[in-house]
Formats: sequence, C-alpha cells, structure tokens
Amino acid sequence: MDTIKPPAESLYEKELQALRLHDTAPKPPNWLLSPKAVRDFILGRDTPLDLNGESVKITRKFYGDDVLIERAIVSLAGNRGLMLVGDPGTAKTMLSELLSAAISGTSTNTIQGTAGTTEDMIKYSWNYAMLLDKGPSYEALVPSPLYTGMKKGIITRFEEITRCPAEVQDVLISIVSDKVMNIPELEDGVLFAKPGFNIIATANIRDKGVNEMSSALKRRFNFETIFPINNVKMEAEIIESQAKTMLRQSGVPIETDRDVVELLATTFLELRTGKTQEGYKIETPQAVMSTAEAVSVYVQSAMTSHFYDDKPISLERLVQNMLGAVVKDNHKDLNVLKTYFSKVVKERAKGEGLWEDYYNTKKWIK
Ligand SMILES: Nc1ncnc2c1ncn2[C@@H]1O[C@H](COP(=O)(O)OP(=O)(O)O)[C@@H](O)[C@H]1O
Ligand SMILES: [Mg+2]
Repeated sequence: MDTIKPPAESLYEKELQALRLHDTAPKPPNWLLSPKAVRDFILGRDTPLDLNGESVKITRKFYGDDVLIERAIVSLAGNRGLMLVGDPGTAKTMLSELLSAAISGTSTNTIQGTAGTTEDMIKYSWNYAMLLDKGPSYEALVPSPLYTGMKKGIITRFEEITRCPAEVQDVLISIVSDKVMNIPELEDGVLFAKPGFNIIATANIRDKGVNEMSSALKRRFNFETIFPINNVKMEAEIIESQAKTMLRQSGVPIETDRDVVELLATTFLELRTGKTQEGYKIETPQAVMSTAEAVSVYVQSAMTSHFYDDKPISLERLVQNMLGAVVKDNHKDLNVLKTYFSKVVKERAKGEGLWEDYYNTKKWIK
C-alpha cells in the first residue's frame, strides 16, 4: 500500500495471514487469532511459518515485559477494558495498534481524545440533512468508532483518554460494564455489543489529567503501566530498525550507523535514568528522553547529513538535533546536557575514538 504510514494490519499483512493459517489454539469469540498467536505476533517467533510456500518470519515488535503482553491480551478477552499508561514514547500507541490489528484485523477504529472531545464523538452523531428529511432513524445515525466496535464485535482504540473532560470519559462507564448503548432518540433504540468488542485506552502519565479519571471508570479497566526500555543494546536495536523504516519511507536511501545509534541510545538512557554506565548519578532533564524521541533525532540527523553534507550521518548533526529534542521544554535542560558532556562524555573521550569525536561537538551545545 502506498501511504506514508500504513496501518499495522497492512504493514504486517503476511505475518498475520501466516499466523491465522497455522493457529489451532482456542480463540475467544470473534477474535481472528488465539491469545497465543496474538502473543507471537507481538513478541515474535523463533521459527518462521509457511505461507503458501513462502517462509514468513514473525518478528518481535515490542521489547520489554513479555508477561505484561500476555496479561494485556487476556484482559481483552475478559469483561474489562485495557488501559495502557506510561511516559510518552513508551510504545502505548504501537501496542494498542498491534493488539487491535491481531485481534480484530483493524487498528484504525480509533477515537483520538482531546480537550474538545464531546459525548457525540464517543457515541454517535446525526446526519442532519437526513435527520430533518426523515426524522431520527438508524440511517441518519453517524456511528462513532465506539459504536462501530460494539456493532461489529471489534476493538475500539481510545487514544489519550485522559485528555478528554472527565464527564465525557464517564460516558464509557455503562458501556464498558453493561456492553450496551442506549439511543434515546430512536424508538427502542439500543445497541448491544457483539462479542469481540472491547476498548484499549492509552494515557500519558505526564499529561495533567490522568488523576482526574473517575474511580468508577478506573474500575472498568485493567491498568498496565509500560516502562521505558532499560537496556542500551535493546534500545539501539529499536532505534536502528525504526530509523531504517522511517528513512526508507522518506525515500532517503542511506544505511544506519550502528555505532552512532549505540552512542545515541547510551546518551538517552543515561539522561533518562540519571545514571551512567559507570554507575555515577547524573542530573536528568525535564524533557522526555523517550526511545521514540531518539528515533526522531537519528532520522532528522541522518536526513540533514544526507541533504546538506552528502554523508550518512555526522555527530555534529546528531548533537544539533539532540539539542532541539532536549531543550525544547525547558531551558535549564541545556545545562544538564552541558554537564553531561563536560563530565561523562569527556571522560569517555579519553578511551575511544567515537566518543572523542562526540566530545568535540560540544561547541554546539550553547
Ligand atoms: N518497548 C518498546 N518496544 C518497541 N518499540 C518501542 C518501545 N518503546 C518505544 N518504542 C518505539 O517508540 C515508538 C513510539 O511509541 P508510541 O507508541 O507512539 O508511544 P506512546 O503512545 O507511548 O507515546 C514506537 O513506535 C516504537 O518505535
Ligand atoms: Mg501515544
């Protein structure tokens, strides 16, 4: 498919087909895959699967807590919704897309929560021309993604739910617990959810508002907290594979540089956790040093180097872009980065070429 960002079900179409073909484990009603196969889709399989003579590798897509993934999948087969919470860039959105694509075959049945989300956007609205012409009828009703999810028995994703006003969030309470939506405008208007329907909501811990979720609504969800990756090699692997995909999608035909990726991953991990590899404590910036942010710093730097310097990537470009990522929220963060260079990077520059080059870019941090 020729789109900037194809949905998970298109991107991994072959993997999903192969998993469906070989899936013999028990499935919850209306699920396209068994919980076991959904887990394999997200965490990968050691052995490839045969799809009409073609060998299809099921790749690992999420790195981190494997047991969390199993719990999340089982939650969706049960009576409660699934709430993924965590810092920005911890793959909450990615996970909810992968889960929906695997379970329901679509990841695009989605409500995006904003401060302006209204009850209509969550339930249904009306085609006013038809409403005036014919009066209230199912024909004139414009379904929301939640309505569609209930009607078809598929998953509805609800992104950034805590950005919505609390009273709007609370519309979900009766729907999640009773699996029915009343439509008072229609005679006998009621929609019963088909099996297979459930909700995956995501919420950023850093957004103000998370605490404003009512306890009644909280009780209708199983919460899973996703933590940032805490391993340089793993993080480097994600940055590299994501950067490759993004560069390819931008039509920039350059290879990624593993050493530079690891250097970037090390800096991000150390600044995020406030601890160096040698075990020293350092100050952390206010800015979110997420894996997603690291990917975008790499891609931005590689593209700048490619277009202006005719090189795959230079450390100067990397540092220039890192500066943008770190200092955007808070100017004090600039000092945190300066100190990181004058202490941590300087020390490592004594031992190794790449870190020395890295240290020599410090003039850009001002
Ligand atoms: N644990 C992880 N495993 C795999 N990819 C990750 C992980 N954490 C972050 N990423 C990367 O970061 C990207 C951004 O994640 P996203 O789902 O948008 O985050 P969130 O919704 O939590 O803000 C993902 O698409 C993925 O490339
Ligand atoms: Mg998100």
